[in-house]
Amino acid sequence: MFSKYLWLFPLFISVYLLYTHDYLNKIKFDDFMQKGINIIGNIYSSLDRNPNSISEANVDQKVFAQNELGKYTNLKDGLYISILGQVFDVTKGAKHYGPGATYHVFTGRDASLAFITGEFNDEGLTDDVSSLSLQKIKALNDWVKFYNENYIYKGKLSGRHYHEDGSPTAEMHNIQRMLKQSKELELNEEHRKRMFPPCNIEWKPDSGTLVWCTKKSGGIARDWIGVPRMLFESPGSQQSRCACVKLDSKEYEEAKGMLREYVGCDKLSIKCSVKIDNT
Ligand code: HEM
Repeated sequence: MFSKYLWLFPLFISVYLLYTHDYLNKIKFDDFMQKGINIIGNIYSSLDRNPNSISEANVDQKVFAQNELGKYTNLKDGLYISILGQVFDVTKGAKHYGPGATYHVFTGRDASLAFITGEFNDEGLTDDVSSLSLQKIKALNDWVKFYNENYIYKGKLSGRHYHEDGSPTAEMHNIQRMLKQSKELELNEEHRKRMFPPCNIEWKPDSGTLVWCTKKSGGIARDWIGVPRMLFESPGSQQSRCACVKLDSKEYEEAKGMLREYVGCDKLSIKCSVKIDNT
């Protein structure tokens, strides 16, 4: 009758042994609870924001005043930094951000610009990033991703990037537009790479250079083969590379001005024997 409860015996014995050896007391309840709260807090705060980018307004998230954030520059209160108006607890990185450490200047403030310029002086340590190009705003957003992935998100900073109610300011809307534009450019570039994959190239002393296309050439798997063409990166450029081109694609039509056929090669051939200065 009791056989179905037999598995409970080893469990009781293990608990008894842990108890008598005082192991249970060594598990600090506070640490355990704090870790639990952090995990739940992270899950909760990441629900309403994209962890890879700048967050949208949310009334439930804490909004720090500048002077409030200014208190978090020591190990007692904690080490907090703000970047593009997002506040992170970086106390676990005290070796970088603690008093006397190289990046202590970032604590208790938003010094977004210095993340890009590396100028850790009064002028450089500012949240004004209006001078930054699209590419640099993207690089700054990569730091935001870094902090989202490695540290604890605490809320927003009221000021240049967020209003007191946590909604984005006009400056932040502009940054978000720039990030969207940079994402679109990145996607276009990826698409272009897929549409003009590199050819296979082989050189032999007796036969010279051979370029050819396959469904996998350039390491880009696709359902078309394409024909080899010289692709010039810009209209006036002398430099070209061999690209496999899909002749019935709109991308080919659009890029015709940058493409040239290999001399002596049939325009529909997937393989061309070319002179060295052609490649
Ligand atoms: C724009 C200039 C720079 C900025 C904004 C910057 C920022 C930072 C930050 C915020 C960290 C801490 C990352 C963390 O929390 O784990 C860090 C770490 C570090 N940085 Fe820089 N840094 C810059 C330039 C440099 C340069 C030029 C060097 C070296 C010549 C350098 C070497 C390091 C090293 C060795 C670490 C520690 C890596 C580790 O222990 O994990 N940094 N940097």
